[in-house]
Amino acid sequence: MEPFSVNSLIADMKKMLLRLLGEDVELLTNLDAEPDVIEADIGQLEQVVMNLCVNARDAMPEGGTLIIDTQNIEIARVRQLDTGDLIPGRYLVIAVSDTGFGMDAATRAQIFDPFFTTKKEKGTGLGLATIYGIVKQSEGGIDVQSAPGKGTKFMIFLPSSDKPASAKPRDTQPGNLPSGSEVVLLVEDDATVRNYVWRILESYGYHVLVATNGVEAIRLAERSRAQLDLLVTDIVMPLLDGTEVYKRLKRTYSGLRVVYMTGYVEIRDSKMNELTLPKCGRLVTKPFRAATLLQAIRDVVECRE
Ligand SMILES: Nc1ncnc2c1ncn2[C@@H]1O[C@H](COP(=O)(O)OP(=O)(O)OP(=O)(O)O)[C@@H](O)[C@H]1O
Ligand SMILES: [Mg+2]
Repeated sequence: MEPFSVNSLIADMKKMLLRLLGEDVELLTNLDAEPDVIEADIGQLEQVVMNLCVNARDAMPEGGTLIIDTQNIEIARVRQLDTGDLIPGRYLVIAVSDTGFGMDAATRAQIFDPFFTTKKEKGTGLGLATIYGIVKQSEGGIDVQSAPGKGTKFMIFLPSSDKPASAKPRDTQPGNLPSGSEVVLLVEDDATVRNYVWRILESYGYHVLVATNGVEAIRLAERSRAQLDLLVTDIVMPLLDGTEVYKRLKRTYSGLRVVYMTGYVEIRDSKMNELTLPKCGRLVTKPFRAATLLQAIRDVVECRE
């Protein structure tokens, strides 16, 4: 958690969002000139904004307009939001509105339920459940306005902080994030992380093969017979862990590079200190920002063994 200004995060994300949204969706931002500082994990907040924008895009298959706005508000009396009561105080509200097909009441009642999706196999139904968890953890709340054919507006309320914003978000990379066209095998058992990374990689040009565990990854690599440049994998997974997947694949794909993704807890609790990274390998710690992952990928792909 660190204190920061949300405007700089949204400004940083703009290029990535434009890629995600595609040509048919117009992106507008209307940011409060002096938004209150909030305390959050930047990587998590980036995921919140990204999940909302992807949902908005999915609701506008024929194109439309997406607006992100930020605003400070003072709440004097307990306010009822879709996610429960919000206690009085000062909040920063991040709103994401779309001109998409909207939702009926029955859908709206279930959107925060884990695995609730109207997108069949294409959705995990974890996007909003994840957002809910992150927002609740910061003692914020969410309100939704939507009607069939009338578009949707998600409002995320986050408590304002008195702390000064840290000079710049840690690993900010304003401007263009590096893209690539390599073939990447993504292995991750956590559906939320998997989808988040998958979307980032695809919108930055990579050809992505996806597996939910190590065994599936090996099978996929054997069957595909395609060239395989890079493995992006979780480390601690049931059946076969990420380091083992790398070792086995390396026998067939000798030039294979690797980026490991892992959580703090996993590093602390497991035999992670025994992990030896190959010379052209990197480790990114969850939750990470898109910029961190994209840069790690370029580092390993361009590394000379
Ligand atoms: N902006 C929106 N417009 C219309 N419906 C929405 C919008 N955002 C969410 N929904 C509805 O809420 C459901 C749950 O959203 P959630 O993000 O949790 O999962 P998903 O988008 O279906 O799957 P995933 O996030 O894994 O792609 C969606 O399937 C959709 O029916
Ligand atoms: Mg979603």
